[in-house]
Amino acid sequence: MIIAPSILSADFSKLGEEIKAVEPYADWIHIDVMDGNFVPNITIGSPVVKSLRKVTMLPFDIHLMIEEPEKHYMDFVKAGADFITIHVESTKNLHRLINEIKKYCKVGIALNPATPLCMIENIIEEIDLLLIMSVEPGYGGQKFIEGSIKKISKARKMIGKDVYLSVDGGVDGSNAALIKKAGADVLVSGSYIFKSRSYKKAIESLRKA
Ligand code: DX5
Ligand code: ZN
Repeated sequence: MIIAPSILSADFSKLGEEIKAVEPYADWIHIDVMDGNFVPNITIGSPVVKSLRKVTMLPFDIHLMIEEPEKHYMDFVKAGADFITIHVESTKNLHRLINEIKKYCKVGIALNPATPLCMIENIIEEIDLLLIMSVEPGYGGQKFIEGSIKKISKARKMIGKDVYLSVDGGVDGSNAALIKKAGADVLVSGSYIFKSRSYKKAIESLRKA
């Protein structure tokens, strides 16, 4: 199981220290980029990612919740992304963009809760990761949408074994086992980890699930 703490729920006044604190237990660092347009919230941009790149060797899993990601993905490549995940809902030329990103790093596709899996039918062969949003994107700390479990099982059957299946939103100690059983191999978790008293214990509980 790959555990990717989402730093959206970390203390933004000390992001470097927060990453250092989860580093011994985490596999990837999940970074949520929001533009106030694709989603209502605005978070961080590539200069911050570039600074954080100096802090850790862990892979950076960049989740772009922005309109027209084709205009911005290169900034995140240069800032040190290992994975760049874009939303199917955010761009008109998905196939082209996937193949552009693939020249530089691993590429993921994200689906909002209401977006059906058939949207990725023709691009499965091209991607490294599928991210199922189990909350409406935009904020940390929301409740896991139960219907996501069925979608995760269906997604795993569709993509086969070789594509990462990541689940993002409301993931915690109470649902991690169910999510894993449904076929996910990457758990993104923000508030459950960063609002807990022990990051170590929170991450271990997800991993053991
Ligand atoms: C939501 C983000 C998530 C978020 C998850 O739009 O994509 O990565 O940080 O936070 P929790 O785990 O608190 O739902
Ligand atoms: Zn995310």
